[in-house]
Amino acid sequence: MEYHDPKRKSNFVGKILMAAALTAVCIIMLKQSPTFGTPSQFSRHEEGVTHVLVTGGAGYIGSHAALRLLKESYRVTIVDNLSRGNIGAVKVLQELFPEPGRLQFIYADLGDAKAVNKIFSENAFDAVIHFAAVAYVGESTLDPLKYYHNITSNTLVVLEAMAAHGVNTLIYSSTCATYGEPEKMPITEETPQASKLVPINPYGKAKKMAEDIILDFSKNSDMAVMILRYFNVIGSDPEGRLGEAPRPELREHGRISGACFDAARGIMPGLKVKGTDYNTHDGTCIRDYIDVTDLVDAHVKALQKAQPSKVGIYNVGTGKGRSVKEFVEACKKATGVDIKVDYLPRRPGDYAEVFSDPTKIRRELNWTAQHTDLEESLKTAWRWQKAHRDGYGAS
Ligand SMILES: NC(=O)c1ccc[n+]([C@@H]2O[C@H](COP(=O)([O-])OP(=O)(O)OC[C@H]3O[C@@H](n4cnc5c(N)ncnc54)[C@H](O)[C@@H]3O)[C@@H](O)[C@H]2O)c1
Repeated sequence: MEYHDPKRKSNFVGKILMAAALTAVCIIMLKQSPTFGTPSQFSRHEEGVTHVLVTGGAGYIGSHAALRLLKESYRVTIVDNLSRGNIGAVKVLQELFPEPGRLQFIYADLGDAKAVNKIFSENAFDAVIHFAAVAYVGESTLDPLKYYHNITSNTLVVLEAMAAHGVNTLIYSSTCATYGEPEKMPITEETPQASKLVPINPYGKAKKMAEDIILDFSKNSDMAVMILRYFNVIGSDPEGRLGEAPRPELREHGRISGACFDAARGIMPGLKVKGTDYNTHDGTCIRDYIDVTDLVDAHVKALQKAQPSKVGIYNVGTGKGRSVKEFVEACKKATGVDIKVDYLPRRPGDYAEVFSDPTKIRRELNWTAQHTDLEESLKTAWRWQKAHRDGYGAS
């Protein structure tokens, strides 16, 4: 026989009434909120505010660029799949700029055209700075398809989305690796890029192909395009808020500054310098090291000077080459550690000498590298490295 307890019934009715009352309170509070019913600030254009999509903004250069843009009052959306970047860097930026409408982070893969289109349809971008990429020469020789996909094909996805949604300014992260090993130094923008005669790795080729796609597209478009070909990027935020924290598994492909710091911290037993018989003053390779602070400054200038229907192509370097031996000496001084150095035979694919002629960018964008003291740039980076032994993991 069924028995109905009247107390249980009134409990149940009470709970329903309570839920209804809470829902009503929530609706009233939402309606009173100033943003209720209005689209997010990111989804509409606002006079006097430039909204920049920073792809790869959780990465080393992208996070530094986002910081600079936010400081200059740009509105920033970071899109990153965190395959190589750090959510910790985004958190630092969010803490510095918590006000609504300043910074949003969207987790997405640029290889997913549907997701990218959705992002463009839900946001009102004025410009795109396309940093996102896999970016290790050594890895590109081992896994070239990954590079053509991630760099060339994803740039096409971004460009198509920009065209479809009327976003008309593009600043593209390119590299001196597109020049291969030219016969003449320094490298000017007129130096022929990779051809059959010029050896070049898949990373450089993938970037060159992406540049070609952008250039072909721009011939029949009013898009304002700036292609920046960076040389070797070093350093970090002088105020110590951001740094370079690549994944440990990428260490073997890593760049020289990371390798020096790893050796100085004792994570690696020492530093391996590959090649001492190049035709240079001390036999080691020569590179042009550009501080990330100067590099992001070049992006802001490029953004400000980008003009509809025009393409600007610029080398971003100091114009001065430094040998690997000089770099290692500067790193020893900056860290105060007598790093153990092993000199090994050459690594295939390395070029003897690569440095820029920065005349064009000085003339046209009024930009010159200011942080040209290698030891100072390394000291700044080392301060962050020492304070973040675990990268962003410990922050
Ligand atoms: N670091 C250098 O010395 C140097 C030199 C020349 C050019 N560049 C170029 O500068 C750009 C930034 O390099 P970086 O050193 O900051 O590298 P990074 O690895 O620190 O940053 C790249 C960011 O892109 C993100 N990313 C990669 N693939 C993605 C995808 N499919 N979808 C969404 N996000 C993706 C990663 O997660 C990472 O946060 C790259 O385009 C690189 O080719 C770097």
